Amino acid sequence: MKRCIYPGSFDPITLGHMDIVERATNLFDEVILVVSTNTSKANAYTVEERTKLLTTLYHDHPQVRITSWDGLTVECAKTFEASTIIRGLRIVSDFEYEFQMNLANKVLDPSIDTVFLMTKTENAYISSSMVREVYRLGGDVSAFVDPRVITFLEQKKTM
Ligand code: PNS
Repeated sequence: MKRCIYPGSFDPITLGHMDIVERATNLFDEVILVVSTNTSKANAYTVEERTKLLTTLYHDHPQVRITSWDGLTVECAKTFEASTIIRGLRIVSDFEYEFQMNLANKVLDPSIDTVFLMTKTENAYISSSMVREVYRLGGDVSAFVDPRVITFLEQKKTM
């Protein structure tokens, strides 16, 4: 069984993330999406909300599992017996941050590798923070997220 974890803030999940998930399922038997805590970001939605949203999106995808994790990503990989961490790479500016994280994870656990999947050109500019800003300012986010994410954003706004 080839298994990987795909950790991220997913705040909220974008079409860019979903493209990476789809391609990861072509490479691995099981892809575990991990809603994680990035301590350098103030998240807009709670871990529970983001986890529930991912569960809604992937409930009919047997290859995809959803979980959340508060701690080191390498510990999460070990716990789920995954030897690979998947990360998406969008634009050149992602590289420095991803490279640093990859090196830190390698020191923390040399047995775990990070595999980077390049985003599709059409998704290269999409980020969760951009989605939140466009949505907050009343813009149309349908080119950036799944329709079920828009429903989620609408529900959260009215709460
Ligand atoms: O979607 P993001 O915010 O870029 O995801 C970053 C994330 C959550 C994967 C990263 O911050 C992370 O792995 N956090 C868990 C803590 C950890 O393992 N830190 C060591 C690696 S720098």
